[in-house]
Amino acid sequence: MSALPARREAPAAPAGAGFDVAAVRAQFPILSTTVHGRPLVYLDSAASAQKPRAVIDALARFYERDYANIHRGVYELSQRASALHDVARRKVQRFLGAADWREIVFVRNATEAVNLVAQSFLAPRLGPGDEILVTEMEHHANIVPWQLVAARTGAKVVAAPIDDTGELDLEALAERIGPRTRMLGVVWVSNVLGTVNPVEEIVALARRRGVPVLIDAAQAVQHLAVDVRALDADFLVFSGHKVYGPSGVGVLWGRLEHLSAMPPWQGGGDMIERVAFEGTSFAEPPFRFEAGTPDIAGIHALGVALDWLEGLGLEAVAAHEAALLARAEDALARIPGLRLLGAPKRRASLLSFTLEGVHAHDLGTLLDLEGIAVRTGHHCAMPLHARLGVSASARASFAAYTSVEEIDALARALRRIAESWR
Ligand code: ALA
Repeated sequence: MSALPARREAPAAPAGAGFDVAAVRAQFPILSTTVHGRPLVYLDSAASAQKPRAVIDALARFYERDYANIHRGVYELSQRASALHDVARRKVQRFLGAADWREIVFVRNATEAVNLVAQSFLAPRLGPGDEILVTEMEHHANIVPWQLVAARTGAKVVAAPIDDTGELDLEALAERIGPRTRMLGVVWVSNVLGTVNPVEEIVALARRRGVPVLIDAAQAVQHLAVDVRALDADFLVFSGHKVYGPSGVGVLWGRLEHLSAMPPWQGGGDMIERVAFEGTSFAEPPFRFEAGTPDIAGIHALGVALDWLEGLGLEAVAAHEAALLARAEDALARIPGLRLLGAPKRRASLLSFTLEGVHAHDLGTLLDLEGIAVRTGHHCAMPLHARLGVSASARASFAAYTSVEEIDALARALRRIAESWR
């Protein structure tokens, strides 16, 4: 494999000018489109981030100039595509601070990564009465894959509670780790509350009890710097489409010692060493877990998206988003009948809320008429909504390209709706 690519500096803001959101927005063609005749105000980046020109062009250029199947041809084009694929893996390795490129497994999304760990790592270790511990604030992707293997093995999924502010109760979590706990799955940033969980502390707690930990970083990697070596977890998952990359590409990071000991979970081409009807032997990680042709261009473009984000500077993005969040929290809290879900001490770039007398879906439709896109429903977190005592909510989520004007447009629209519908 080629050497680790150097961090790319791709300045999006003129030096010394601070965070230039206009310069960032100019890189996103979709942000200058209209919806219902109104300028698009895209506040659903936690569901999927929009894509900068660099990523869109990388996809097109790859198909125009570099595309062929990988690891299958001696011809120049296939070699080139394979080399770019290797570079993308190295970029993800660097982005996560992973010790070894073999710890990076390409999958379709964070959901698939959790399923892989549940079926390949955990299922063989589970027996009747064993427990998989998650938390009340998990996305369904960090609940249902565990339930599937629990149902097959007689194990059960149990949840550590949150308090009314939307924080994890760490004492209760520690108490729930018992002799039958075989795995802890925990979200880094809640996709509903925005709570930033103290994952370092949680991992340390679990490690002291010998319990492996999977971190769902789907809402974290686009806002917070990740260093998997410092974090010391066992697995971490994220989706490319939430981090300005294409949809259909995700990442599983796992400790090499685990991946090396795990059986394949899907069979097919590219994951084998030797195939015979008498029996088959399997490739080393990560290839053992990557059966079939992957999204070759998408993986390349994910690497470009990570370069793009690093070029912008995660810290600068986080500071910009923190300012937006503070403004939104303040403005929304003043709207009569609006309830913000949770009030965690540390929140990342999103807010969920309900408005008295208006169903979340109606709210979403009314905002859409003004060109404002928010997510509505249970946000794939039904147990969390049940815990909060609501069946549905609306969620506004922010990204590097979100502007103050968009936050103000949301607040104005919500105020108008609150006043006319009550
Ligand atoms: N998991 C994504 C969300 O929270 C789709 O919206």
